[in-house]
Amino acid sequence: MKKIICKDAVLAAQAAADVFESQINEKPESVLGLATGSTPIGLYNELASRCSAGKIDFSKARTFNLDEYYPIKAEHRQSYSAFMDKHLFSKVNFASTHLLSGEALDPYEECARYDAEIEFAGGIDLQLLGIGRNGHIGFNEPAVSYSMGSYLVDLTEGTLKANSRFFDDDETQPTQALTMGIGPIFKARKILLLITGEDKADITKKLFGGVLHTDVPACFLLLHPNVTVILDEAAAARMK
Ligand code: GLP
Repeated sequence: MKKIICKDAVLAAQAAADVFESQINEKPESVLGLATGSTPIGLYNELASRCSAGKIDFSKARTFNLDEYYPIKAEHRQSYSAFMDKHLFSKVNFASTHLLSGEALDPYEECARYDAEIEFAGGIDLQLLGIGRNGHIGFNEPAVSYSMGSYLVDLTEGTLKANSRFFDDDETQPTQALTMGIGPIFKARKILLLITGEDKADITKKLFGGVLHTDVPACFLLLHPNVTVILDEAAAARMK
C-alpha cells in the first residue's frame, strides 16, 4: 500500500488526478470505477481542466459508479446520477458511463445486471474510493458479513445524518441505496483511496492502526495488492 500525504485537499486532488492521468496514458480504454461525495469534487474539477487542456483523453474510457440512492429519480438534484453529470460527465467525454439505477423496479435484478455489465467490461482497472466516517466504502456499511456482488443496503443512521446536509428540508432523503459490493471493488486491478478533511482523522487513524477491524469495510483494502492512498494533512493528523 502506497500512502501519499499532501499538504491540503487541493494538492491531494492534483496527486489523485496524476494517478488517473498515468492510468489513461498507459491504457486509454481503461474501465474506471468512480465515487461520489464531497471528497472527489476537487479531483473531478482537476480532471475536467486537464481534459480541456488536452492533457488527458478519456474518449476511450468507460466508467462505473459505486452506488446510487434507492429509490431516486435520475433527475433528482441529489441523485448520484445528477451529481456525476454536474461534476464530471458534462465536462469530460467518456466512451460510456454506467450507474446503478435508482429507478429500477426490481433492485435485485438491477444489481445482477450491473455486476454482469462490469464483468462484461473486463472488470475495473482503476477504482476511486472515498471513505465514510464509519469506514464505509461505496455504501458498504459496517456489518458482520458483506455481499460480494451489488446489493440493496439499508443506510445507517450515521450515514443518513452525514449525508442529510445535501438534502433540503422539503426533500425526502432515501434511506436505502444500491451499492457495488466488496467483490467488484476488491477485484479492481488498482485502487485509489482519497481521504481529506479533519472529520476523517478518526476513521483514518482506525484504518491504519495495524488492526483489521471487521466492522470497518475499508479494512478490506489493507489486503489488496495495489492500493494508493492519498490523504491531506488534516485527515492524516492522528495517524501514527
Ligand atoms: C457517501 C458515498 C461514498 C463516499 C462517502 C464519503 O455516502 N456513498 O462513496 O465515499 O459517503 O463522502 P464525503 O466525501 O462527502 O465525506
